[in-house]
Amino acid sequence: MPPIRTINLDDTALLDSVSRKTEQAVALLKKIAAEYSPAALANSLGAEDMVLTDLICTEKLAIENFSLDTGRLPPETCDLIARLREHYGVNLTVYYPHHELVEAYVREHGINAFYESVELRKGCCHVRKVEPLQRALAGKKAWITGMRAQQSATRQGLPVQAFDEANGLEKFNPLADWTEKEVWAYIKLNDVPYNALHDKHYPSIGCAPCTRAITVGEDIRAGRWWWEQPESKECGLHVKKP
Ligand code: ADX
Ligand code: SF4
Repeated sequence: MPPIRTINLDDTALLDSVSRKTEQAVALLKKIAAEYSPAALANSLGAEDMVLTDLICTEKLAIENFSLDTGRLPPETCDLIARLREHYGVNLTVYYPHHELVEAYVREHGINAFYESVELRKGCCHVRKVEPLQRALAGKKAWITGMRAQQSATRQGLPVQAFDEANGLEKFNPLADWTEKEVWAYIKLNDVPYNALHDKHYPSIGCAPCTRAITVGEDIRAGRWWWEQPESKECGLHVKKP
């Protein structure tokens, strides 16, 4: 497993690549703050988003930091929101779903209907994540994510920058070409707080009922919506052009 214990800080090739990619990411974040204000980081409290939060806070960049609390997040994720405030003095802006929409979904389909079909799963993600995301992005010139190309089949060829037509603003993925090892080396080198679930075999973390631990040899996103096929495993936050 990648987390912190397995990262060897004597690996000079790894340290070199982390240092080079960190410089590139900082340069990009500075450019975003200067040219795309107001800009915001969408923070899921996963390892990649913690790297970006650390860079933004260390460099004191004027980039907002927000999270979408779906109401079904694991307690470890909520704990990290609290730790982030202590560690960086940063208060995440937390967006919640409209309660009427959640109530209607649960009334009509049931509280755990996402297990029944891809359509119902995407419906839940829409109410709990996509609609709040649209509110979070309103009035912004750019948003930033922690997505990496190597994370999944759906993210291969992920660009560092692209216009997000679905949401009508620029979208940046500063860690697009980072490896999982580089992310964890950065976290170790900079003592970045991270989600306790990462130490329990959860490399990718979403809502509690839709995320499980993975076993040796499984893909890093195998624990997300594990009952679905890899091609359907996006929640609607990240819409790809056909
Ligand atoms: S996703 O399918 O849930 O979007 P993943 O967990 O890999 O996949 O997240 C990818 C990126 O989407 C994160 O780096 C973050 O920028 C954004 N994101 C995902 N979930 C949230 C959330 N709950 N709040 C804010 N941003 C999020
Ligand atoms: Fe609903 Fe699961 Fe999507 Fe969370 S990840 S919004 S619980 S379907």
